[in-house]
Amino acid sequence: MLEADVAEQALNDVLRVVAFAGSQRRGSFNRALLEAARQLAPGRMTISSIEIGDLPFYNADVEAEGDPVAVVEFKAAIRAADGVIIATPEYNDGIPGVLTTAIDWGSRPPGIAPLTGKSVALMGASPSQIGTARAQLHLRQLLGHVHARTLPPPELLVAAAHERFDAELRLTHEGTRRVLSALLERFARWIERERIADAAERALASPASGRR
Ligand SMILES: Cc1cc2nc3c(=O)[nH]c(=O)nc-3n(C[C@H](O)[C@H](O)[C@H](O)COP(=O)(O)O)c2cc1C
Repeated sequence: MLEADVAEQALNDVLRVVAFAGSQRRGSFNRALLEAARQLAPGRMTISSIEIGDLPFYNADVEAEGDPVAVVEFKAAIRAADGVIIATPEYNDGIPGVLTTAIDWGSRPPGIAPLTGKSVALMGASPSQIGTARAQLHLRQLLGHVHARTLPPPELLVAAAHERFDAELRLTHEGTRRVLSALLERFARWIERERIADAAERALASPASGRR
């Protein structure tokens, strides 16, 4: 296949994105942010939310006996997705434990982990004035270790979240909606670019290319 065809094909597919939030709270701003993202996603992107609350703490003994069902499902959802969106609250300047657990499982086994090489976009909401800036830095660092392809800044930091969502947890702040839309479009292009790079690499490595 010509390299131009490879690029064309990579651009034509729908982008299937899975999303999860580091909060199990019913009134969670971060879950609400993911719902807003689902509604504002570009036409060529679908976003489906998955739950991470059933994941057990990472334990190498449990892993050695075989991943529990919740872990199998979580890993499969990430592997099948073209990209992942994570909405993180900020707990004590970092990410919540439930999210650490998800990253731990998603980073196993090393080298072939579901998060390795995966395109990931971060966002976060907090009632404070810094809008999860420190939690996102923390999360970016963890994802760097597992070689995820994390969308570079600018970040989406939803500060004063209680003023940006209404009582039904709809994102009503116009400026935030615009920044969220822009981030989602940038993420779509990021996934497409990575897809083209991967497809071109595969094409160049194939015996038919004569360029091994
Ligand atoms: C244990 C704990 C620690 C927190 N630490 C921070 C923090 O360091 N910075 C911050 O902005 N908010 C902090 N908060 C407030 C959370 O940002 C706030 O509860 C937020 O709404 C949680 O996200 P959610 O709405 O998605 O559940 C903390 C909350 C808890 C329960």
